[in-house]
Amino acid sequence: MADQDAQSPVGIEPPALSVLRWDELPEGPVLVLLDQTRLPVEEVELVCTDVPALVRAIRALAVRGAPLLGIAGGYGVALAAARGYDVAEATGLLERARPTAVNLAYGVRRVARVYWAAVEKGLTAGQAAGAALAEARALHREDAAASGRMARFGLALLDELLPGGGHRLLTHCNTGALVSGGEGTAFAVALQSHRAGRLRRLWVDETRPLLQGARLTAYEAARNGMAYSLLTDNAAGSLFAAGEVDAVLIGADRIAADGSVANKVGSYPLAVLAKYHHVPFIVVAPTTTVDLDTADGEAIIVEQRPGREVTELTSPHMVSPGGEAGGLPVAPVGAPAYNPAFDITPPELVTAIVTEEGVISPVTGVGLAELCARSSQI
Ligand code: MRU
Repeated sequence: MADQDAQSPVGIEPPALSVLRWDELPEGPVLVLLDQTRLPVEEVELVCTDVPALVRAIRALAVRGAPLLGIAGGYGVALAAARGYDVAEATGLLERARPTAVNLAYGVRRVARVYWAAVEKGLTAGQAAGAALAEARALHREDAAASGRMARFGLALLDELLPGGGHRLLTHCNTGALVSGGEGTAFAVALQSHRAGRLRRLWVDETRPLLQGARLTAYEAARNGMAYSLLTDNAAGSLFAAGEVDAVLIGADRIAADGSVANKVGSYPLAVLAKYHHVPFIVVAPTTTVDLDTADGEAIIVEQRPGREVTELTSPHMVSPGGEAGGLPVAPVGAPAYNPAFDITPPELVTAIVTEEGVISPVTGVGLAELCARSSQI
């Protein structure tokens, strides 16, 4: 098993990642993204000068993860306004770029609402664009603050559930600074455990087919000097059976009103394994991920991605044996594939949901509604 022990002592922090920033260039404002399709091989920035470019970046997963999609969507509306594009059209394009993470629509609509309110008040186009940008920046700051609060609530919960011991935590997909204005959701809790000297091991699922765990979470864990090991998704069962997992920590793309959780495909099997092995299954997400308008798991739209992501190992760095750009085939040419990007975990399999407003456990619709009522964001 590839094994990575802590590389740097607790207390030495790496420089913060610049994941997304607004920049004013002589030719106009732009949104600059760290291109996540190229990690961990290279840290390359992607400059979006218009909304179609941002929509392409979202669909390609150059920018991804629920909270960051909300932030990117918000800035996308501000970009349209600042560049004099049709804001109503931009709003529609951005909202529809990916269907599952509710944060995307939340961020887009929130900033668009502020823009249109400014227009209705009779402000100039420049002033309305300024109001939109200020709102996108506020959303960005609030997400960073939420991340810090979730990390603290999450560590307190781990200490309560796992008294007197270190933490061996299993996580899936990528939920760190790469998805957030701050240090993330589930990963931020693991990082807090590491900083408190309690993280014994972060087990990182590779997360097929696009390898967000291997490419991105391992990258973030290594940067932070955390003790981590990467495993294939299929190895999780034997890890539970060996008694090596104290808790599962995952993020969420949408939490329905009944507490059903949509997250990266492969989360639901982990929840079933956790239940069987009596291991806490903890979801960490800001209240912007809770969608009280979606009644239950069945009502959540799960994004279906191209089969090619399964039949080929895809990466911008790969070329096929024929030399053309694209992935390395791992299945017969034309093999049909099933490729949902997310799955749904029912509330009865979730031990707790950690938000910036507090923790709910057991997970019930009433508890979730009360928690959201406390949040000024909903
Ligand atoms: O398809 P992705 O990479 O955008 O999926 C991301 C996830 O599923 C994350 O686990 C989720 O957004 C939670 S991140 C806070």
